[in-house]
Amino acid sequence: MKILAFQGSPRFGGNTDLLLSAFLRGAEEAGAEVRRYDLYRMDYKGCLECGGCDRTGECVLEDDLTPVYTDLLDSDVIVLASPIFFYNLTSRTQALVERAQALWVRRYVLKNLSPRDAHGLLLCLGATRGKKLFEGVQRVVRYFFDAVGVTYRGGLFYRGIEKRGAVREHPTALSEAEALGRAVAGGLPPERWSLSDP
Ligand SMILES: Cc1cc2nc3c(=O)[nH]c(=O)nc-3n(C[C@H](O)[C@H](O)[C@H](O)COP(=O)(O)O)c2cc1C
Repeated sequence: MKILAFQGSPRFGGNTDLLLSAFLRGAEEAGAEVRRYDLYRMDYKGCLECGGCDRTGECVLEDDLTPVYTDLLDSDVIVLASPIFFYNLTSRTQALVERAQALWVRRYVLKNLSPRDAHGLLLCLGATRGKKLFEGVQRVVRYFFDAVGVTYRGGLFYRGIEKRGAVREHPTALSEAEALGRAVAGGLPPERWSLSDP
């Protein structure tokens, strides 16, 4: 079981970092092979809309995302983790999403990328408590996973988490993330994963 994870918060040791680390701890304990990218330690841009991938399905940019394309196509589970910034993913996470344009071209223009038996998850949290807090990001993430040929399954969503490390005070967040990592890596079918109702 290969798990690919993206940590999309600029605050290291912050809430998203802790939440994703808990998930990956559970996954590794259950035997998964984990590859984690901390997006704010990497150097890359969003899509430049240059059209360079239109005929090849290959992004012309050469940067820290270049090796990530292979991982995106070769993982059983992909986990995006981001805090909410202005009702959105963080800019670096969104830039990763945009760079999936090259794979969207393969899937829908060149038609040489088929959906595969792989799953996408979102780990997401924000400071406020609005009912629609996670609506926008879920739409974005569903579309991202579709472009890479992966089925979006939902994820874990937490409101009211603001200060650095506040997720530690949440009664269930870290234990739920660790348990989900263990369940996913342990081969439990997606219908039996305990996911949040966002
Ligand atoms: C630039 C910025 C924008 C934010 N926008 C929102 C927002 O729209 N809604 C919300 O609930 N929280 C918002 N927050 C709060 C963060 O989502 C919250 O503090 C979160 O716990 C940060 O997670 P982290 O420690 O993983 O970075 C914002 C924080 C920042 C710095």
